[in-house]
This record gives sequence, structure tokens and C-alpha cells, in this order.
Amino acid sequence: MTKTDKYKSLLPQIAALVEGESDMIAKMANAAAALHEAFGFWWTGFYRVVEDELVLGPFQGPLACIRIPFGRGVCGTAWQRGETVIVPDVHAFAGHIACSSASNSEIVVPLFRNGTVIAVLDIDSTDYATFDDTDRCYLEQMLAFMTKG
Ligand code: SME
Repeated sequence: MTKTDKYKSLLPQIAALVEGESDMIAKMANAAAALHEAFGFWWTGFYRVVEDELVLGPFQGPLACIRIPFGRGVCGTAWQRGETVIVPDVHAFAGHIACSSASNSEIVVPLFRNGTVIAVLDIDSTDYATFDDTDRCYLEQMLAFMTKG
């Protein structure tokens, strides 16, 4: 199964899981679990915008750092830019926050509500260059329907 096939089968499942549910924490929890299980990523989870920081939300994988300032690390950079950040080699990203030494590549996708970033989805891989525009495209679609309803 290609990456595209996996996303095409997963997206309707995640849409069904979150449909009609208004609680963002619950939706984040199921979305992280579904993605993590389907792809076998190293770490899959959300950081929520709480005042001037990102705070750890629902995730699957090893323990992670709890608070990330605006503009710091890959997560804080995606929040600051308001756009997806793909990092093929985290060791080459200035300011990368290493929650785990096993992580080698990463994608961070902002989750918007009414044009404002309210959280980011962070996925880490132990392989280099795991993420590309296919991941960006499907993950952005997935997050868009998480803020409906
Ligand atoms: N590497 C992230 C921090 C979060 S952990 O990877 C779960 C960053 O640089 O923002």
C-alpha cells in the first residue's frame, strides 16, 4: 500500500471519528491514535496553543516535552509561520527541540480555527526524509475537517 493509498483510506475514517463531536481534545486523541497506528510513526501528537506557548496535548509515542515557546523548535516555527513545516533532517534544523534522540525527520501542521492557529500536529519519524507534499496535503485536509462542528 502506498502512502497515498493509506491516507485515502484513513481520511474518511478520521472524518467519521470526529464528525459531530465538538470536543477538540477527544478529536485530537483519536486522530493521533489513528495516524500513529496506520503509519507506525515514532511520535504522533498535538500541541495546543495556550496563551503564549504550545502545551502538550493528546499523543501516541514516547514522553515529550510539555511546553514550547512561540517561534521555538519546529512546532513553534510552524505556529509562527502559520504554515506546515517539513524537516527532512532534524539535526540540520537550527533550534530543533530534541524530545527524543531517535527522531530524524519531522512534519508539523498547524490547525486553524477562524484563521487562527489553535494547535499543531507534530509527527516524528526515525527515518530521514519521511515527509513530503503528499503528507502535507492529506494532513492539512485532515486538520481542516477536525475544526468543523
Ligand atoms: N521536535 C519538536 C518538539 C516536539 S517533539 O518532537 C514531540 C520541535 O522541534 O518543535
